[in-house]
Parts: sequence; structure tokens; C-alpha cells
Amino acid sequence: MSATAPVRHLLGVEDLAPREIVQYLDTAEVFFEVSRRKVRKVPTLRGKTVINLFYEASTRTRTSFEIAGKRLSADVVNISVSTSSVTKGECLLDTVKNLEAMRPDVIVLRHPASGAPNFVTQHTRAGVVNAGDGTHEHPTQALLDAFTVRRAKGRIADLVITIAGDIAHSRVARSDAMLFTALGARVRLCAPRTLLPVGIERYGVEVHDDLPRAVEGADVVMMLRIQRERLTEALIPTTREYSRKFGLNARMLARAKPDAIVMHPGPMNRGVEIDPEVADGPRSVILDQVEAGVAVRMAVLYLLAGEAGQSPLS
Ligand code: NCD
Repeated sequence: MSATAPVRHLLGVEDLAPREIVQYLDTAEVFFEVSRRKVRKVPTLRGKTVINLFYEASTRTRTSFEIAGKRLSADVVNISVSTSSVTKGECLLDTVKNLEAMRPDVIVLRHPASGAPNFVTQHTRAGVVNAGDGTHEHPTQALLDAFTVRRAKGRIADLVITIAGDIAHSRVARSDAMLFTALGARVRLCAPRTLLPVGIERYGVEVHDDLPRAVEGADVVMMLRIQRERLTEALIPTTREYSRKFGLNARMLARAKPDAIVMHPGPMNRGVEIDPEVADGPRSVILDQVEAGVAVRMAVLYLLAGEAGQSPLS
């Protein structure tokens, strides 16, 4: 397998054909194997520069992009906005123009404004990766979730995948729903009515406001946290009541298939949307998702910044 013409940007799942999704997942398999070697480094992106530009908090996504770039031998620069000139009032456009002058090959951007990565593509020659934009998309999270499901279940088509939590504010829910649907899964989205966006059915998903029914017979149960930083009004009752109705505990999980897996993109609010006994239990693949994150991001960086015809490992 080798890169054909390098892909320009990864802005959202919405732009991806099923064939391209499978190319990302298959390429990630190659890098997953690299990440389990004794020497976890390949020369693929030697001489290339990756800038991680994060305007929002992140643990997993930022770290795994950094590790992914380093395992590919790229030079990786991390800009955390709290220590950059953004605190002195510099706007996104000026920041990008200045970074562009340093000739990066890839800019990985996380930003609170939906659409910010699309905007950045107009001001740089670098490939742009959306690492989460507002409530819009988080394509690499969807790819790593699909990678995890495919490894655990051997396929994605025809699986019943329940995604429950703050659907309205979750870019993960949007990207995952589109990606799993594109690969032939049956996606159920579940949230209190106040956290279900209008028109969500257009993604070809089943919509629920009752967790027991949404979990019934599922192959995969993915829980999401309440995005408190994006709530503008009181959309949920007390945390306790939310947890009682929409939290995943062992009793609730018993409604799913006996071999159902449990997922969470993190960060988890233990005891709110998910019980520790489930999060740390035998059905949880939550840390497998994190491991997959490095391999998937290596695949993304390689497909964006690798030379045409270059193989993934050299
Ligand atoms: C998510 C995000 O930032 O969108 N986290 C992640 O990248 N794994 C989900 C969240 O913040 O709840």
C-alpha cells in the first residue's frame, strides 16, 4: 500500500467517501503494528513539519497527534494558545499567516468555532487537519472509533451502535454518526430531548430519548460527557437525575448484546454518564480507543504529508 496523490486536508467525515474511510483505517492498521514494536519509529515524514495549534483544552488528541508525528520522524511543534500571542490579542488569521511563513507541511487545528479549519485552508499551503471545531466535526476521533470497533468486532456493517449523551453539543457524535452510517452500521443517538438537535434524523440515524430502549440489543454503547462549556442555558436537570436516567451502569449495559463493547471518547465524568464499574470493566475498550488514536493520526499525517507513491514505512 502506498499513498497515491497526497490528500490535501481532513476537515470532516462529511467530505469522505466510504472508500477513503477504509483507506484511512487500513493504513492505520500498518501503523498500529509499528506502535507495538520495540522501536516505534519510521522515517516516513523525515524533513516535514507538523504544527499542532490548539485553542481548546485537550489531553488525548493533542498528545496523540504529537506522538504520531514523532513516530513518523516529522518535526512536531505544539502551540498551546494559553502561552501564545493569542493571549496578546492576535487573531486566528494573523496567527496562521505567521505560521505559514515558517512553511509547515501540516497544521492540526482545534478551535471553538465551527468551520475554523476550513477558514485556515484558505490561508496556508499546508494540509489542514480538523482536531475538533466547535460543535461541528472531529473526524480523527470518528476514524479511531471506527478502527476500534472494527478490531473488536471484525466489521462495522450491520452493527447496532448506540451513542448516548450530549448529542446537541458533541462534534464526536456528529462525526461518528456520519462515519458509522457510511460504513453500513445502524446508529442510534440518545439524549434528553433538550440535548437532541432538531433535524438530526437527516443523518439516517434512529433517535431516542430513553436510554434503556436505545441500549436494547446494541453491539456498541458509546457514552458522551455533557459539554458544560458549550451549554448556554439549563438544559439538564440536576447531575444526579441526569445520571439516574442517562448514565450507563452494569444494569443498563445488561440490556445490550452479551458481547457488547463500551466506548467513550474521553474525558469521562465518572459517576455522571458512566459508572466506574462499566468504564473499567471487561467490556470497556476505552483505552483501546486511545491506543488506536496514535495509529489513526499517523495514517492521517502520512496520507496528508507523504509524497505520492511513498510507502507508509519508508
Ligand atoms: C472530545 C472533544 O474534544 O470533542 N474529546 C476528545 O477529543 N477525545 C469529547 C469531549 O470533549 O467531550
